[in-house]
Amino acid sequence: MPDTTQKSKAEKSVQGLQHRHLLGLQTYSADEIALILQTARQFRDVLDRPIKRVPTLRGVTVVNLFFEPSTRTRISFELAEKRLSADTVNFTASGSSVSKGETLKDTAQNIEAMKIDMVVLRHVSPGAPQFLTQCVDAVVINAGDGAHEHPTQALLDMLTISDHCGPLEGLKVSIIGDILHSRVARSGIHGLLAMGADVTICGPNPLLPLHLEDMSPNGTVRVTHRLEEALEGADVAMALRIQMERQGRNLFPSTREYHEQYGIKSEHLKRYPDLRVMHPGPVNRGVELASEVVDHERAIILNQVTNGVAVRMAVLYLLSGAAKSSMAE
Ligand code: CP
Repeated sequence: MPDTTQKSKAEKSVQGLQHRHLLGLQTYSADEIALILQTARQFRDVLDRPIKRVPTLRGVTVVNLFFEPSTRTRISFELAEKRLSADTVNFTASGSSVSKGETLKDTAQNIEAMKIDMVVLRHVSPGAPQFLTQCVDAVVINAGDGAHEHPTQALLDMLTISDHCGPLEGLKVSIIGDILHSRVARSGIHGLLAMGADVTICGPNPLLPLHLEDMSPNGTVRVTHRLEEALEGADVAMALRIQMERQGRNLFPSTREYHEQYGIKSEHLKRYPDLRVMHPGPVNRGVELASEVVDHERAIILNQVTNGVAVRMAVLYLLSGAAKSSMAE
């Protein structure tokens, strides 16, 4: 883990992180992503200790602003902040003055007036974290904005893939399902392409976005509508949740037919013995994945969740350099 008393290698590299905020992975370089993953590996050691806490962010105040439901991301950020000894405050839209009509800008500025250093924001609107950077001085971390980006999910996914399959460069990763509505897919594609992985996306036509070549400056993705084509030769299959709440209309006939065509089943694990299966959660059992696949030893879904805490510790730590320097100003 990063040494907190001496200037460690990771700490020196903070100067190498080009961004003040984490709004998405589209603009993050391979070097920056590699630094975050390497720092997360070091923080994992802390999580294996009997006392899972280091003083790294002592004196730093982080507000978790969640305007949308979350289980994994919210708990994971909160745990990461506590493991780093930050002071944390949790805000959820329900029960707040948002229900009385207060805007995001006013909410954030009022919270910042209470002297905070970092904001973790989940919001239904794409671009809300970017907007927040124009309203507050605090460091902003995107915990998922609409169907735009979910960068810490992509980072924990890349850490999990590299744990199980080795260096990301040249690995074959297939992302299957509702790509159109998926911030996880967008961040994943940006990050994986930056790291040199081969990315295939697969799903029914109405769930695939147009103009995929615009999704990343780092390359293009292969597109297929056939699950077998996506799984053949893949190191990892990442199934995505069918997001009924974002669709607003039925883009495929039924979840039963979706499962028949695009659901990963036991027969696929038998046919592709090296394939690992991932899912960002929450899983619709029997839709994206057969229930027995979720529980299979080659499903590494809970490893993703475990890695989420270490990745978020790394992001908070690396970006806290910017928070601390503005504290000193
Ligand atoms: N993967 C993910 O973002 O899960 P939550 O919505 O539960 O945070």
